Amino acid sequence: MFKKLSWKKVLMGLLVVFVLIQFRSIDKTNPEVIRENDLLEMADAPSGVVDLMHEVCYDCHSHSVRYPWYANIAPVSWWIKGHVNHGLAKANYADWNAYTKVEKDSILTGSSRFVGLKWMPIITYKINHAEARLSLEQREMLISFFDSEKAKLSK
Ligand code: HEC
Repeated sequence: MFKKLSWKKVLMGLLVVFVLIQFRSIDKTNPEVIRENDLLEMADAPSGVVDLMHEVCYDCHSHSVRYPWYANIAPVSWWIKGHVNHGLAKANYADWNAYTKVEKDSILTGSSRFVGLKWMPIITYKINHAEARLSLEQREMLISFFDSEKAKLSK
């Protein structure tokens, strides 16, 4: 027969697991920033757009990801890294030169759409980043930038 587990043992077990998972840390190194390959540089974007995108998009879609202190604590760290990897795979504004015209078009279309629908920045990011809760004016500024870049592609 199983003995009834005591609370103490359960908590100790959880603590041991928590300590052990800390050994699986995430890679927080950013790839090299090559300014000439960055969308905002290439487009000579208005400074308002540059500042805003650096602040609210570049933590998941660039080579300048800033990791918060809690990115040192597993399993939160894995979850954050997952967002960065996933975000980068979908849109990397820092490596803009690597995309074909069709890919650029599709990312710019998605960017306008996702910002317009308030799907970007992602909701969980907004919990701890008040500046990522964009106003209507901020969203309009980003969308008009994405749309004007898109229009340049077809020229
Ligand atoms: C905290 C991380 C994070 C931030 C900050 C963030 N994104 Fe994302 N982004 C993601 C993730 C994760 C995905 C993939 C979502 C999916 O496919 O479900 C994504 C997907 C996208 C996509 C691809 C959409 C598609 O067509 O599938 C675009 C475009 C995008 N983000 C633009 C932006 C813009 C613009 C900003 C800033 C206003 C921003 N993101 C801020 C994490 C982030």
